[in-house]
Amino acid sequence: MAQFSQKVTKIGVYTSGGDAPGMNAAIRAVVRVGIAQNLEVYGIHNGYVGMMDNKIERLQLRDMANIIQRGGTVLKTGRSTEFMKPEGRVKAAQHLKAFGIDALVCIGGDGSFRGAHALWEEHQIPCVGVPGTIDNDIYGSDKTIGFDTAVNTALEAIDRIRDTAASHDRLFIIEVMGRNSGFIASHVGLAGGAEEIFAPEGNTTVDKALDRIKEAKSRGKTSSIIITAEGQKPGRAYDLAEAIRKKSGIDAKVSILGHQQRGGSPTAADRILASRMGAAAVDALLKGYCDIMIGTEGERLIQVPLDLVTKHEKKAQLDLISLANILAT
Ligand code: F6P
Repeated sequence: MAQFSQKVTKIGVYTSGGDAPGMNAAIRAVVRVGIAQNLEVYGIHNGYVGMMDNKIERLQLRDMANIIQRGGTVLKTGRSTEFMKPEGRVKAAQHLKAFGIDALVCIGGDGSFRGAHALWEEHQIPCVGVPGTIDNDIYGSDKTIGFDTAVNTALEAIDRIRDTAASHDRLFIIEVMGRNSGFIASHVGLAGGAEEIFAPEGNTTVDKALDRIKEAKSRGKTSSIIITAEGQKPGRAYDLAEAIRKKSGIDAKVSILGHQQRGGSPTAADRILASRMGAAAVDALLKGYCDIMIGTEGERLIQVPLDLVTKHEKKAQLDLISLANILAT
């Protein structure tokens, strides 16, 4: 964990990478705790894109009115390839310095934290990270902002699909988000009573899924649900359906939940997590700590060096998938 000694009077806050429900609650906490501590707080729009384009404005208490319940991010977000290059970061650092911004709070995922770490290393701009992504795949934190909401959004859709699957005695393949991560898939799979779960971390196969479904059928089960994470190829549920049809002749229906999992009003759990993490990030900067992320270990908030966060991967728990397999009999 790094420490810095300069006095903090002006902080900047931004959201970066994929948006996640609860990001607004985190921004609100940063702004209101910062102002309560007599800081000037600046909002940076569109993440690193806005930092390089100088889209920075001072935020006041009332700018945060009525946002705790809103999904998305009022500061907007972005993914930037230009910021990955040193020249992009030089431009961003010049703008921050022109505003007199002493320190930053970055709300985002591991790619965003890599950018924050580089800003500290190359330009000595202190930053504290707050993990915001529906994927829950950030090393060093049990939970990320947005995960609980996304799981509940997907689960609601899965419950509805189960109604129609049961009415028609059908097999459904439901695709949820998660490019490299099976957290959403394993959680909704267990909570939604899925027969089989395909996660990037898992090792199931079409043959194994078919065996399970046929077994269940022989015990009198008439409808089944397979959950798959989108993985590297969104739309992979269609490939699975085709493979199942070729191997068994079973005509599986496909439903891709897509970006609806990223939107919507955050759950109470996400609002509380985001409020606590946003406040803890400002507190850490005021104490002179930086180059860290605020994470959770159980109910406790912890500080984790960004270097650790960005160098390690957090994998979904396969035991949830095994349990789902046993329970969906
Ligand atoms: O934010 C994480 C995530 O939703 C992943 O689950 C998904 O694979 C990816 O973002 C999609 O990103 P985009 O909206 O940029 O296509």
